[in-house]
Amino acid sequence: MTAGGAAADGEVLVGGMANAGAVFRRGRFVQRPAPRNARALHVHLLALKEHGFEGAPTPVRLTADGREHLTFVPGDVALPPFPRWVLTTTALESVGNLLRRLHQAGAAIEVDPDADWPTELADPAGGSLLCHNDVCPENVVFRNGRAAALIDFDQAAPGRPVWDLAMAARYWVPMLDPASATTLNPGELDAFARLRILADSYGLSAADRTELPGVIEQATEVCRAFVAHRVANEEPAYLQALEEHGGWDRWDRIQTWLTAERDQFTAALLR
Ligand SMILES: Nc1ncnc2c1ncn2[C@@H]1O[C@H](COP(=O)(O)OP(=O)(O)O)[C@@H](O)[C@H]1O
Ligand SMILES: [Mg+2]
Repeated sequence: MTAGGAAADGEVLVGGMANAGAVFRRGRFVQRPAPRNARALHVHLLALKEHGFEGAPTPVRLTADGREHLTFVPGDVALPPFPRWVLTTTALESVGNLLRRLHQAGAAIEVDPDADWPTELADPAGGSLLCHNDVCPENVVFRNGRAAALIDFDQAAPGRPVWDLAMAARYWVPMLDPASATTLNPGELDAFARLRILADSYGLSAADRTELPGVIEQATEVCRAFVAHRVANEEPAYLQALEEHGGWDRWDRIQTWLTAERDQFTAALLR
């Protein structure tokens, strides 16, 4: 991107992989490639606002050249290498709380099942709630140390609430075996206690607590397939990220650990 291009298009917003280099801020607005189901997604985002949920960008318009304009959400977005506050208990609780509020508002909104929702990160079991499905740090705006808004609804699709929480847990607990966790976050993180905190702050039901560890395993498989698809297509950003993060060995290790510790996670959630 030349300086001239940057001036004409606005400030490039970094943080994503899917639309890297194609997301711009112009004053109060963000302009980015529109997902193929943008029309239905914008209807849903407006309905969330009508139902009192303020934690998402407001869609403004779709352009003839296939882009969408949304409101810019002021605040802090954590980008790698992640700052320490990302792993505070306050951050974790606030993510659980924000997801709960998204789901509460979403529960009252009918989702068009024929809207061509993306399938790659969607709940294989399906469902009636529009899940965000990609609540990674890069897609959460914080204010005063608390999660205030979700952005980037490109992977949103109908599913079960517990699926969305499982996806969020992968990043925010994070659901990493101890060896993988040390390479990313020096310091002790008790995954069992932190999953419990996330479930409590979300207000997860007892029935969903029994399911959550298994659903996290399923969500991890789905995320691995998402990466594998892009690696098979030789997408440079995904090839590089896989190499930097310990390759398939790390995925194997995480999946083995999740299965081995499933009962411990269930016990921690129900205790
Ligand atoms: N509406 C918004 N408000 C505030 N920041 C945003 C908004 N949309 C995007 N961003 C910033 O731009 C980055 C990349 O945007 P995103 O839409 O998530 O791209 P990608 O689809 O590539 O993940 C985000 O991580 C965030 O930092
Ligand atoms: Mg993103």
